[in-house]
Order: sequence, then structure tokens, then C-alpha cells
Amino acid sequence: MTELLTPDFAGIARAAALLRAGELVGFGTETVYGLGGDATDARAVAAIFAAKGRPHFNPLIAHYPDAGAAFAHVRANDAALRLAKKFWPGPLTLVLARAENCPVALLASAGGDTLAVRVPAHPVALALLRAVGRPVAAPSANRSGQVSPTTAAHVMAGLEGRIAAVLDSGPCDVGVESTVLDLSGDGAVLLRAGGVTLEAIEAEIGPVARFRHVGGPLRSPGMLDSHYAPDLPVRLGAGTVAVDEALLAFGRALPGAGAVFELSADENLTEAAARLFAGLRWLDAEGRRRGLVRIACMPVPEHGLGRAINDRLRRAAAPRTAVKGETP
Ligand code: TXA
Ligand code: MG
Repeated sequence: MTELLTPDFAGIARAAALLRAGELVGFGTETVYGLGGDATDARAVAAIFAAKGRPHFNPLIAHYPDAGAAFAHVRANDAALRLAKKFWPGPLTLVLARAENCPVALLASAGGDTLAVRVPAHPVALALLRAVGRPVAAPSANRSGQVSPTTAAHVMAGLEGRIAAVLDSGPCDVGVESTVLDLSGDGAVLLRAGGVTLEAIEAEIGPVARFRHVGGPLRSPGMLDSHYAPDLPVRLGAGTVAVDEALLAFGRALPGAGAVFELSADENLTEAAARLFAGLRWLDAEGRRRGLVRIACMPVPEHGLGRAINDRLRRAAAPRTAVKGETP
């Protein structure tokens, strides 16, 4: 079922062809194995969440073969350029504002305005990324709740039968994930400690704010403040819809809405997940343009990717201040 590919020309070409066809491929980096999918293909990104069994949409890291390719899709600033020069390829991930016309699927940003980018320091990973010719979205290649894999055998143990292939490039050297640094706002914020030390980063760009405040609430990338929240109020579980409402439809659309976005007419949860954030944004903008008062959402079943979709919709519907103070 899941092909085990060798890290030679043929194996890399096969992995690249699968990725370009929208399939999922596990591949080694210097940190841990990633579960890769074409970052510009929203359905492939949705399939990553399905394969991992993630109950919510965490934003994903887009992997690039070089800094030039990465910075074409985000708005780089001075600090980003300096850090990239010093630490790429390497275990450092930079969170930056998405560039206008960024081709990476909104789902990889969990609907937000930022994108995490990284250039991994593994020759096989770099050869693969060059062969794909598109950014590859890749979380660690473990099932949700399990530890990150550092060998192809670990990936197989967790995901065999759920993904198209694993490109075996041997055990990972670093073994811990990349450092994640948010440079999208004023100043740098450490979101996750990892392969590049904080001291090394601070030596390059000066003081970095820590993500965790002792005794304070934990900020998490899964929290609403780093995500897109529609301006219009959101109503869940809609069984009917009014003319002054915009409708997020799942399955056959309810009649009578002032605007309709179909997540998936035939109730396909992968398609629905792939279209969710684009749909919310469109309904919000179009609804306001047409003077509608809220977004009504038809029910989505609570299984598979439906759990992640419902998690996001509940966040969008929750009172904004209450959700912002929530711990993950
Ligand atoms: O070493 C690594 O980083 C590995 C290899 C495969 O590259 N990848 C990895 O991905 O660990 P993942 O999905 O397991 O962890 C990515 C982390 C998560 O904590 C996620 O929330 C955060 O990066 N992240 C990704 N995009 C973000 C964004 N736009 N804003 C804030 N945090 C983001
Ligand atoms: Mg992980």
C-alpha cells in the first residue's frame, strides 16, 4: 500500500511525482520526518490533517529548497533575511505575513494571514523540494498525539496504508523539531524551541520575546488570535436559513440564503476542509457587501475531518473575547 522509496534519483523522482499528483509522502529532514503534501493544493493539505487524525487545524510549515523560493510567498523583513542567511538550510522556521497572491492553500495557514516557511538542511529533502517545484506542507509525520518520527520505520508504523509513500533517507540527525520564530508582528517571538538555540538567534537579531510567560496563559498557534475570525457573527447547526444570512452549506444547500458557499455538495469532508477558510472569507466579504447580518453554518458530521472543521467553526462562533483568553 504505502511505497517505501530509496533516496536515489528514481526514489526522489517517484516521491516528487506523487506529491505533484496531490498524494501524501513522508520524507526525512534533518529534524524529524515530515508528512508532505503539495502546499498549493488545498485538498492535499486537507488530506494531511485526515492522515494525522488531527482534531483541529494547526497551521503547517511550508518547506522550500532555498530562501529565494520561500521569500517569494511571504513578506520577509530585515530580521528574516538575516536569520535565513545565517541558519538556512537548517532547523529554523520563520512565521511571516503571507505575500499578496501567495499560492499556498489558506488551510496551511489555518485561515490566518501568516505562513510558516523553512528550508530544511537535508540533501535528500532539498533534492525532493527542487524536483517538486512547489512548496511542500509538512507537519511531523506522526499520528496526532504520538511522538515525532525520526526514522522511515517510525513513519510506516504510524501511517502505513494512510499515505502514498515514504522516502527513506535514514535516521534524522537533529531529532527535535525546528525552532519556530514569529517575525510577522513587531519584534520576534519564540513560538517553539527547537534545533536552533534562542541564544544563537538573539546573537543575530537581538532580544526575542518568549512565548510562555511563567504563570500566565499559554498562547498557542491553535488559538483564535493567530487565526482568521470573520467579522460577521457565526450561527452553527443551521436547519433553516434567512434571507439576511450568508450560508456555509454542507451537502445540499438550504434554500433562501442571501449568499451561499458550498463546502461540498456531495458531503465529502476532505473537500469541505480544503474549502473551509476560503469559504468563510468569501461569505464574510460578500455578506457584508450585500448587507447580510451573519453567517449560518449547516451541520457537519463530527467524525474524521468533520471534527477539525467543527472545532474551527465553534471558534468562529464563540464570543471573541472568551475564546482569546482560552488556554489550549
Ligand atoms: O522540524 C520541523 O519543524 C518538522 C519538519 C517536518 O520540518 N515539522 C514540524 O511540523 O514539526 P509541525 O506541524 O509538527 O509543527 C509546526 C509548528 C506547530 O507548532 C505550528 O502550530 C507552528 O509550527 N506553526 C506553523 N505555522 C504557523 C503559523 N502560521 N503561525 C504560528 N505557528 C505556526
Ligand atoms: Mg508535530
